[in-house]
Amino acid sequence: MTSESVYFKQDVLAEPLFNQWYAWSNLIPPASSAMYIANSHIKIMESFVSAPQAHVSALKNPAMLGGPFINYDATKVGEVRQLLDRTRKEQSHMLELAEAIKSLDQMLQEEATGYSLEPLYPRVPDILRGYVELVYDLHHRPSIRFIEGMLYKSKYYDPRSQSVALALLESDDRSFVFSTPRLRGDGGLFLDVPFDHEGLDELFAMRFAPRPYEQIKEVLSVGGEQDAAFSSFFTTEEPAPPGRYDGEGVRVRYFGHACVLIETRDVSILSDPVISYKDKRGVDRYVHADLPETIDYVLITHNHQDHIIFEPLLQLRHKIKHVVVPRSSGADRLDPSLRLVLQTVGFRHVLELDEMESIPVEGGSLTGLPFLGEHSDLNVRSKMAHLVELLGKKIMLAADSRNIEPRLYEHVHEIFGDVDVLFVGMECEGAPMSWFYGPLFTIPLSRKIDQSRRQNGSDCERGVSIVDALRPKQVYVYAMGQEPWLTFLTSLQYTDESVQIVESDKLVRECRRRGLAAERLYIRKEIFL
Ligand SMILES: [Fe+2]
Ligand SMILES: [Fe+2]
Repeated sequence: MTSESVYFKQDVLAEPLFNQWYAWSNLIPPASSAMYIANSHIKIMESFVSAPQAHVSALKNPAMLGGPFINYDATKVGEVRQLLDRTRKEQSHMLELAEAIKSLDQMLQEEATGYSLEPLYPRVPDILRGYVELVYDLHHRPSIRFIEGMLYKSKYYDPRSQSVALALLESDDRSFVFSTPRLRGDGGLFLDVPFDHEGLDELFAMRFAPRPYEQIKEVLSVGGEQDAAFSSFFTTEEPAPPGRYDGEGVRVRYFGHACVLIETRDVSILSDPVISYKDKRGVDRYVHADLPETIDYVLITHNHQDHIIFEPLLQLRHKIKHVVVPRSSGADRLDPSLRLVLQTVGFRHVLELDEMESIPVEGGSLTGLPFLGEHSDLNVRSKMAHLVELLGKKIMLAADSRNIEPRLYEHVHEIFGDVDVLFVGMECEGAPMSWFYGPLFTIPLSRKIDQSRRQNGSDCERGVSIVDALRPKQVYVYAMGQEPWLTFLTSLQYTDESVQIVESDKLVRECRRRGLAAERLYIRKEIFL
């Protein structure tokens, strides 16, 4: 395999990593990534190194799969210790940043009592000076506003922490990725390139457009010692070409979880991308070959790990024309700008949409709709339902919206009228607040508060009231994380008794009773409108 033109195999796994941990959106903005390194990555590794057996035993209980436990046995203690030591050394500036944020938080809580904040500026920890503004809300409660754009230009954003691990997929059944770092000795091949490296686009484009092997090796600076592993990811066998929809009307295809492809002859729109690799032994599903050659718009609903997923996004970047994201407040480490995150990792055309704001597309429009709840009552703005109007049909992608205020949907209906198809997630009992947001806090969270503010989506009653307000003809429960290839993202496997299944079954029954087409989606589905 030298000058011969080859294809990148369909079943090569490409995991983006940050300090060898599975990369996701909050690991990019400096202020939040510092908090996750200090309060999650380091803590989990310290715990494993001191008591590996506790991790092994915890993971024997399926309910613990999503917990802060490393999925290795005790033989890996040495390697994890090495990674821990290296992280402490190489990321010492990030640990200092996390420490500085904590002490500034504390200082503000103690000393910012409603009087002018100006005298406090000289006392801001030195490394944060010039990167923050101190502000009050209208109740004189102080907070730190990070100047995100500046921090991205500082040493606190270092793309050398990024790499991409390639490996041949063994089966759909991948282990949960967010609590276990990848070790170099795990096998596979590490490309030490930043996420915005154009060579990655060239590599992933080779799934369908062949190129000489030597060229891609050079573009990605793959060394001779990696040749055997790297060359195993390529083949001369020609894949079926990607197809685009060329028929009448609107075609909607469900790819699994919250990923829906909406196409007309003129435009293609993909929500919350997560694309299964081709597992020849697994159940038939839509894969990369079922995507068109270019995707005009990718829609992101919210900043949760199962909705803005770097792994598929980077693999699709070369074919994505625009990404549409909800506008974040950008002010807080809780709610970093998704536009800056995606631009930083190499997406050129990222459009921010505000609630009720529309952009025209060929044959229709995309509109951002409010998305309430499911964020532990934290002031997170980077969440949005999307209304896709194409050829006179209206499709609403509500993702994990929790209908805590049914009046909202009455207003939406007054403005937009009946919807044709509603997609709604029903993870009505989500994780406690600390699971996702815990590392961002600088004060201990009480168990009671943590449990009372779970990341819950809509249950049957709340879902039905969306249906009754918007009067769709078809209702699909999606984003349940149950496809067999999603085990790396979602640790929960539901049973028939799980409240999420009971409630969504109920919703489907209620909708059918009203004469609507309704179904909880699983694996794949195709609809024509
Ligand atoms: Fe969510
Ligand atoms: Fe979700």
